[in-house]
Amino acid sequence: MLPDSSLNAAYWEQRYAASQTAWDTGAITPPLLDYFVQLGPPDARRILIPGAGRAYEAEYLHTQGWPHVVVVDVAAAPLADLHRRAPSFPEEHLLQQDFFALAPDTPYDLLVEQTFFCALKPKLRPAYARQAAQLLRPGGTLMGVLFDTTFSQPGPPFGGSREEYHEYFAPYFDFVHFETATNSLPPRSGRELFICLRKK
Ligand SMILES: C[S@@+](CC[C@H](N)C(=O)[O-])C[C@H]1O[C@@H](n2cnc3c(N)ncnc32)[C@H](O)[C@@H]1O
Repeated sequence: MLPDSSLNAAYWEQRYAASQTAWDTGAITPPLLDYFVQLGPPDARRILIPGAGRAYEAEYLHTQGWPHVVVVDVAAAPLADLHRRAPSFPEEHLLQQDFFALAPDTPYDLLVEQTFFCALKPKLRPAYARQAAQLLRPGGTLMGVLFDTTFSQPGPPFGGSREEYHEYFAPYFDFVHFETATNSLPPRSGRELFICLRKK
């Protein structure tokens, strides 16, 4: 069950159906791309991308040969779009599910965040940090970008600050990197943090 019905699967399906997807950059973004490039050749790492949307980063990793990339989204439409763009992406790695309902069976090594955290009601932020930690192995990494800005329109996206986010993640993670990204897309420049957190 989604914890907040007002931003439920139907809401997100409707956003995709109406092409109200301003968050969708149409390609992998530089902060994620640069991080993946420095990982080196593909290995057996288990990678989870929650609230993945059209998941250009999953398509990139798959094309590079990373074998275990799992994308999760409550909406069917973006997953179908990924399947259309990358037909050889394993269907069993396309999960139409609620991130908060994922069971921590086999832990992941890497969890990738981009505009999922900001799409959730802010009251869910502590639960996001807890669930991310539950799904990672000790020493596993939560990597990605978080908005460090406020928005004038009602959310989603919901803004926030580095100081606020620190509180949510500190109980579960060591902070390897938590600074303003230097390689953001121009509209996001100076307004997002690049985060690399290691599960305790
Ligand atoms: C703002 S979009 C971001 C999509 C993608 N990360 C990107 O950067 O293009 C938020 C996504 O999270 C999905 N979503 C919202 N709540 C979710 C939940 N509880 N579990 C899984 N996915 C969820 C939505 O369907 C939507 O695709």
